[in-house]
Amino acid sequence: MSTAKKEFKRVTVKSLVDMKQQGEKISMLTAYDYSMAKIVDNAKVDVILVGDSASNTMAGHETTLPITLDQMIYHAQSVIRAIERALVVVDIPFGSYQSDPKEALKSAIRIMKESGAHAVKLEGGKDIKDSVKRIIRAGIPVMGHLGLTPQSIYKFGTYSVRAKEEAEADQLKKDAKLLEELGCFAIVLEKIPASLATEIAKSVSIPIIGIGAGNGVDGQVLVIHDLLGMTHEFNPRFLRRYMNLYEEMSTAIKQYVTDVKSKDFPNQDEQY
Ligand code: KIV
Repeated sequence: MSTAKKEFKRVTVKSLVDMKQQGEKISMLTAYDYSMAKIVDNAKVDVILVGDSASNTMAGHETTLPITLDQMIYHAQSVIRAIERALVVVDIPFGSYQSDPKEALKSAIRIMKESGAHAVKLEGGKDIKDSVKRIIRAGIPVMGHLGLTPQSIYKFGTYSVRAKEEAEADQLKKDAKLLEELGCFAIVLEKIPASLATEIAKSVSIPIIGIGAGNGVDGQVLVIHDLLGMTHEFNPRFLRRYMNLYEEMSTAIKQYVTDVKSKDFPNQDEQY
């Protein structure tokens, strides 16, 4: 039998399960607009998440709660226009699925129909079981999200590590199993102890994508603005910055201002 890794022309929910089975780690990043999504897709990131973190990164809100379904659809449409390979997953925003399963299905259908996305993500376990079931029954792939769930920030009170206590860890394990049984194709585990995340990844057949959940899971996700160092006030331990784009952009923009003020720009070659 060949051990060569399969090259995916187009990543599907099935490809992700194959990757888990083959021990190939899954890469996932957020993107919210056409230009960024094009770069991310060209770099062969497997999954692009149109996260409700757009509420923070794109709109400047303190939490993910204010972003609306219409705004998420707008971001998703822009991302979809850019991609050729990645699987695109879109967060159903706060207030668009919590009240009842019918509302959840309606929101998921709007995202799929109006943006052309490939899957949706919802935060929570047993509390949203009926909504997850209903969306999957309609043929829409669902990614779960457990651990630190930012839409519940006012319930938690802080963004600190979740499930350090046994009771919460036990509930998290049950929720992960439940989401697998309901038919979710993957689960994001955010900011939980690495040993717990590893145990969960081993106990389920669907991929577990971690953010602040250690290296024993099946893939990793980061917010693109954090990875590129466009945000500099956010410094959690789990974040690896690959650039300091805030500094680089500031330097470039300041140089532009200087060049305009000094009449250096445009020069002879830069005009008609
Ligand atoms: O909205 C988002 O960016 C997310 C990731 C942090 C997983 O949910």
